[in-house]
Amino acid sequence: MTPIIGGVEFSGDWYQVWRANVYSRTATRILVRLGEFPAVHLSQLDKKARKFPWQEHLKAQHPVRVEVVSRKSKIYHARAAAERIENAIVYSVGNRISQDADICIKVRIEKNLVKISIDSTGEGLHKRGYKSSTGKAPMRETLAAAFLRMCKFDPSQPLIDPMCGSGTFVIEAAEIAVGQAPGKRRVFSFQKFKSFDSRTFEMLFLDKKKITKVELHLLGYDRDNGAIKNSRQNAQTANVSNITSFNHQPISDLVPLSNQCGLIIFNPPYGARIGDKKKLYALYARIGTVLKSKFPGWRVGLITSDRSLAKTTQIKFSFVSEPVSHGGLKVRLYHATL
Ligand SMILES: C[S@@+](CC[C@H](N)C(=O)[O-])C[C@H]1O[C@@H](n2cnc3c(N)ncnc32)[C@H](O)[C@@H]1O
Repeated sequence: MTPIIGGVEFSGDWYQVWRANVYSRTATRILVRLGEFPAVHLSQLDKKARKFPWQEHLKAQHPVRVEVVSRKSKIYHARAAAERIENAIVYSVGNRISQDADICIKVRIEKNLVKISIDSTGEGLHKRGYKSSTGKAPMRETLAAAFLRMCKFDPSQPLIDPMCGSGTFVIEAAEIAVGQAPGKRRVFSFQKFKSFDSRTFEMLFLDKKKITKVELHLLGYDRDNGAIKNSRQNAQTANVSNITSFNHQPISDLVPLSNQCGLIIFNPPYGARIGDKKKLYALYARIGTVLKSKFPGWRVGLITSDRSLAKTTQIKFSFVSEPVSHGGLKVRLYHATL
């Protein structure tokens, strides 16, 4: 796997594409490179796009949309380029072109090289299919999973989210602990491609990971009763309600339920999105007091958009992550052992 700007690249067959979609916890989407050719003007693009083997990938009955970006190339008019590609698809396979189509052809023209990819995912991979109920500022599932990984979440130790909202961290942790595929409950665009074979696809789900046998302590709390109801509902849909527990409680009442140390991971409100800044400083100060006094030896992963709020906890963070985009803000993970 090779890191590139905005993602990673790997090669494999269609089964690997399905597998990456079903099992990847942190990727946003999986694009499949179908081919590439040089083109320096629109009539050349038109000619080469008509010779492209679209019929190997597309079925005529599904509408298609085409997105083009062009960088450092003689063909600079993205919409005009998209039209040529759309015409080529209509000419070769006969699909209807629609801006609402689930199937998306992504074309990148870079230094006069036309790179053609297809989005195999559809709706972003953070849509696991368990979150029917959300609160004010839910964490994206893919991001929650990435933060759990960065905190080296260990299912044999307790995990607490003291401000769980819709329950994302706890549910993701539960799925990781029991080896449940994140893409088990949803559909993908690749299911409409010519390469799709439902019987082979079913085999993916036999490809189960090792299941943890340890006793699990995966707990979520929130001062908002509605959030607890949502979390329980989401855990039930995710089929992890038997190994998770959600209770209505403010952070000031938080205590460890066992002698074993574990991980506390959460994203408290961060001001720019909900609430008022002064109250937030008081809240973060309380977070610091509670965690430092009641949870010595535990690890904490705090996610916030505001460095000064993290500082207000007076916790000595030993690791601060790079910023990650989340809901229009840049958030960072602050990690410490208390
Ligand atoms: C940004 S949201 C958390 C989102 C959550 N990670 C998710 O994925 O849905 C912050 C949560 O903190 C809760 N909260 C705020 N103050 C609290 C307090 N003093 N004690 C417990 N929960 C609190 C809010 O009710 C809200 O659900």
